[in-house]
Parts: sequence; structure tokens; C-alpha cells
Amino acid sequence: MPDKPYEDVQIEGHLIDSLMMPQIMDNIMDLDGEFEMLTFEVGRMKNDPSHAVMRIFGRDAAHLDELLTAVTEHGVVAVRPQDAVLEASDMDGVFPDRFYSTTNLETFVRVAGEWMRVRHPEMDCGIRVHEAGGAAETVAMSDVKAGDRFVTGHRGIRVLPLERPRESQPFEFMASAVSSEKPKAQIVRAVARELRHVKQQGGLTIAVVGPAVVHTGAAPHLARLIEAGYVGAVFGGNAVATHDIESNLFGTSLGISLKEGTPIPGGHEHHLRAVNTIRRCGSIKAAVEQGVLTGGLMHTLVKTGTPFVLAGSIRDDGPMPEVITDVMQAQKVMRGYAQKAGACLMLSTMLHSIAVGNMLPASVRTVCVDINPAVVTKLADRGSFQTVGIVTDVGLFVEQLADELADGGS
Ligand SMILES: NC(=O)c1ccc[n+]([C@@H]2O[C@H](COP(=O)([O-])OP(=O)(O)OC[C@H]3O[C@@H](n4cnc5c(N)ncnc54)[C@H](O)[C@@H]3O)[C@@H](O)[C@H]2O)c1
Repeated sequence: MPDKPYEDVQIEGHLIDSLMMPQIMDNIMDLDGEFEMLTFEVGRMKNDPSHAVMRIFGRDAAHLDELLTAVTEHGVVAVRPQDAVLEASDMDGVFPDRFYSTTNLETFVRVAGEWMRVRHPEMDCGIRVHEAGGAAETVAMSDVKAGDRFVTGHRGIRVLPLERPRESQPFEFMASAVSSEKPKAQIVRAVARELRHVKQQGGLTIAVVGPAVVHTGAAPHLARLIEAGYVGAVFGGNAVATHDIESNLFGTSLGISLKEGTPIPGGHEHHLRAVNTIRRCGSIKAAVEQGVLTGGLMHTLVKTGTPFVLAGSIRDDGPMPEVITDVMQAQKVMRGYAQKAGACLMLSTMLHSIAVGNMLPASVRTVCVDINPAVVTKLADRGSFQTVGIVTDVGLFVEQLADELADGGS
């Protein structure tokens, strides 16, 4: 392949059983690039990593750049790495044109010959390198300040791909569990083991919660998990708070009696009346303190001091006073918790789960529960072995999980 610009790159890890090598080759061919394998040493024992060196050819420098950018996320790094190219942003809220767009994987950036870990792995961000050196972090577009220096292009970037664990792990057998036909009891037990582990390590489990949790009667069971210390932060929207408070004030959720499962006359107004009552109190917290709100999920959150973030959306009624209606502000507050997460339960809300999924590092164990297989597939598709999708009724799932953990598990 004479006269074509090329770069020699290397890759190390479980290249075959983690399917890293075929993915790299596919990426190059999909982009009309070419490659030549220079060396490929396959690990001999099952825990030995393999090592490969390949030469990647592009049509021209720009094409080569495109190819190298594409394979970076598989852990490919130049044989002779160079420092990252840094460019200062010239406008608030705007990255330099050729900014490096992050993955949710652990990432390193090379500055002055040293590899630095990028703090807070998050996808679809830029990498800001501080003037004094020594620190690099992901930054969302809306947080860019003019003058901040960002990595541009792919040079000086090293990404550590997640590798499929060789030993049997709690999540391994569930890796393809986006199916309604898996044995749920086993899955619930595996999720329980994971949450127990996160708790023992002092980690944070976030529950992202949709109103179906209240409609299906699962809210008291989620409250048990919070009280037992298995859930340390709750994210949701106006609906989950509204229907939970409606159920406490009126015994209904969206006008349906939670006891009888039947509509109550005039029940369709209950959620609005619930919002109105809380707005009069000033906040959900104030309603608890004033003795107006005496039970339910939101009451448990307030009573236990468990942080919750309610993010606004276009269809909200009221909304409840704690709802953050500036979505970029809500994103910022959620990001603060997402960066500390050890595990995440996504329970029947597509809107909020997608938002949170995009903020979480790939290493965070995530469980998505929804009754719609298409939603679960979408949520579980984070290119990670750490995410499990479960197609089931959220009411049954949360109750079983609470039975597994809250009564007896520690
Ligand atoms: N009155 C209001 O203010 C009001 C009412 C509804 C929604 N909202 C807001 O709109 C936004 C989107 O709402 P959302 O999160 O409910 O909608 P969404 O469409 O994002 O998610 C709802 C999900 O719940 C799933 N689901 C339904 N029943 C289920 C069950 N029994 N078990 C498991 N999964 C089940 C659905 O398949 C769907 O994926 C939120 O911010 C919410 O607060 C406000």
C-alpha cells in the first residue's frame, strides 16, 4: 500500500474473547480504511492478555485521522504516542471545532509526556485540561468557558475498554437478559447480590423512577429499599412525586384506587389536587414537616434525608415545588450524583433513564426494568457488560427485590 499515510497502533487485552479485535477491524473496513497486521501475540493462559500491533492506512491524512478516532474507543493507542493537541475554546458553551468527543469509558490523556486519568468518565463530553497541567476532566458542552483548553483530534488519547470478565460474575449470565422469558427469581437474586456488594463497599445506588412504580403499588417496596440503605439517591420527574403523594393523600394513583384497582369517582382530579396541596405547603419537605404528607415514597425520602432530584418535562402539571424546570440545571445536579454512582436501577421511565444512562461511566452496574422490550433494549444498549435489561412488570420486580434485601439481607 505505497504512498498512503499510515500509523502503527497497538492494542492489548482479551482481544479475541472480548471481540475487541474483530470490532476494530470492522470499524476500519466500515470506514473504507485498510490495515496490515504487524504482530499478533495471543495470550497462552486464559488470563494472559493478547497483544497486537497493526498498521492502519488512510486515503489521506484526514481519512487516517477519522480511522484512528474511530478505533480509539477500543483501547487502540499509537505505538509512538504523542501528546494530546489542546485548543482553547473561544466561546462560552462551545467546544473548539475538532474537539475530542468522549465515551463513557475510563480515559487517559497524554500531556507533556505523561498519561493523566480523565476524571468523571461520561459520554458525549469534551476533555478539559487545566492550564497548570496535572488534571483533566470531562466537561459537558453547556459548561464550557471561553479560554478553557480542550483535547482536539485523537492524539494522546487512550481509552480502556471494558473487557468481558472471564470468571463467573453476577451480571455475566444475564448479559443477554433483554427477554421476557428469563427466570426472574434468579435475576432478582443476582441484582440483590450486586446491591448488597455496592452497599458493603460504601457505594451509592441510584434509583431512576417513573410513575409506573406508584401505579403498580411498588412505591412502598422502594421505600423499604431506601430505609434499609440500599438506595442512596432517587431521580425522577413530576409524575412519580405527584402520584406518590396523590396515593398518600387520596389513596389513588392517577385516580385509580390502589386498594381496589378501580377508578374512584372524581379521581381524575386527585393528582392536580395533590400538587396544589404541596404547592400551598411550599415544598414536599415542608409538607412532611407540617404533617400534611405522612407516608409514601417521597415522605420516606424526606424522613431518611435521602437526596432526590426531580427533573421537569414539557407535560408536567404544577409542577411540584422541588421539580427543577431548567433541564440543564437538573442535568447538572443529576450529574453530581451520577459521577459517584456504584450501581443504578432504572425503573420504568424511558425519559429519565436515558438521561441518566448517558451520564454514567460504563463501569457502573445498571439494571433497566421496563415492560416494553423495545425500551429495555434501548436502555440496556450501552455497549457494556455491566448493564442488564429486564422485561417485566416493575411492581413485581421491586417487591421481590425488597423481599430479597430489606427483610433479612444486609
Ligand atoms: N401529570 C404530570 O405532571 C405528568 C404525568 C405523566 C408524566 N409526566 C412527566 O413526563 C415525563 C415522562 O414520563 P414517564 O417517565 O412516565 O414516561 P416514559 O414514557 O419516559 O416512561 C414510562 C415507561 O414506563 C413503562 N411502564 C409502564 N407500565 C409499566 C409496568 N407496569 N412495569 C414496567 N414498566 C412499565 C413504559 O413501557 C415506559 O417505557 C416525566 O418527567 C414525568 O414526570 C408528568
